[in-house]
Amino acid sequence: MDRYLIPALEQPLNGEVEISGAKNAVLAIMAATLLVDGVSEISNVPHLKDMKTMSDVFRVIGCRIDGAAHTLRIDTRGANHLEAPYELVKTMRASFYVLGPLVARFGRCRVSLPGGCAWGPRPVDLHLKGLEALGATINVTHGYVEALCEGRLKGGTFHFPVSSVGATVNILMAATLASGKSVLHNAAIEPEIDALVDYLIGMGAKIEGRGTRTLKVEGVEKLSPGSGATIPDRIEAGSFLIGAAVTRGCIKTTNMDPTHIEALLNSLREMGCKITIGDTWVEVDARDKKLKPISVKTLPHPGFPTDLQAPMMTLLATIDGLSIIQDTVYTDRFTHVAELQRLGADIKLVGDTAHVQGGKPLSSAPIMASDLRAGAALVLAALIAEGETSISRIYHIDRGYEDFENKINSLGAAVQRTQDNS
Ligand code: EPZ
Repeated sequence: MDRYLIPALEQPLNGEVEISGAKNAVLAIMAATLLVDGVSEISNVPHLKDMKTMSDVFRVIGCRIDGAAHTLRIDTRGANHLEAPYELVKTMRASFYVLGPLVARFGRCRVSLPGGCAWGPRPVDLHLKGLEALGATINVTHGYVEALCEGRLKGGTFHFPVSSVGATVNILMAATLASGKSVLHNAAIEPEIDALVDYLIGMGAKIEGRGTRTLKVEGVEKLSPGSGATIPDRIEAGSFLIGAAVTRGCIKTTNMDPTHIEALLNSLREMGCKITIGDTWVEVDARDKKLKPISVKTLPHPGFPTDLQAPMMTLLATIDGLSIIQDTVYTDRFTHVAELQRLGADIKLVGDTAHVQGGKPLSSAPIMASDLRAGAALVLAALIAEGETSISRIYHIDRGYEDFENKINSLGAAVQRTQDNS
């Protein structure tokens, strides 16, 4: 397994970085191509481990996937093995997205339960209840979900008790081929959902309510192969912009959508960063700024994203005074806290809330990435920790940040990837 060796910065991060396509939009759109019998295309696809894992799931199902440059060509005409195995689903939860399309198109499929992840249980009960609301019969045995349906799924109404990106993805896709109308209440409104809606409408799906929490779907018998570009990755953009503030530098992220990260920009502005915004770019300037401690609470979109909770915690650890960060989406997503404490951060966890007594000098130590966003947070902390920090298990970072070390080194870092022989 690879590790990073990261010396403390001699200068704050400074420069421009181009943002890649959004992993979490691509994963949903890839699953949507299973709704048709044909060849679909997706462009602006980042080269990430998660894309490879999802492609492996597609090959198990019998599809052909060709990836040239940043475009995926997905041929689903050979789909005949309607199963997503545990070995793949356990490494990437989004493989579970094949459930809705497969049962909608074929009337049956068998998909492994994802199991937990680095920070605890991640249920899929809403995915299953939503499919039952569309007439699917669901059996869970031996760690697998078996979904069955005589003929077509039937349009139905489903109310999500909590805002769930994945469950909205699965149920929305299934509803596009159901007979009759479906109404999804309290659907997720993350930008990745809008990207999926746009791609599905391009395939001939009849969906109303884009961008709202009520999605109305008129099912159709058949969809056509899709094509289209992915939206930029708001979490990658946010991670780099937080890096500008962590190092008291100045970074401009380009080829991104500023409206996707308004909650983050508000927090950065509140602490005293200078924010400049263009149509497709954002610059965060924290040079010579004395930043102020703040409180942050993660919420479903358009609130502060849980995926930026860890990088933001690193930033709060650099700011004199007591800051508070609460994760209301994943109340136990704090595996990065112990690693930050090893670098000298003064953080106290109380339930779903971290009390960060910032401003303590950080010093290097061997640490370990536990999930992709925690990994990014640890890289940012290592940049300002005195000495050289080594971070193991950086395969987590490879899952969600394209070309990460080259991008961050182009801003002035000297991150080195080495073999981890321990
Ligand atoms: C998506 O995960 C993202 N993954 C996650 O990003 C992100 O953290 C999360 O949404 C929240 O924004 C992808 O898009 C591939 P949820 P998902 O269903 O869909 C509860 C990353 O770093 N819930 O919106 O799994 C759940 O426990 C990844 O890129 C149920 O109770 O998240 C959580 O509290 C990590 N039952 C809340 O809903 C269910 O059936 C939100 O989860 C489903 C979810």
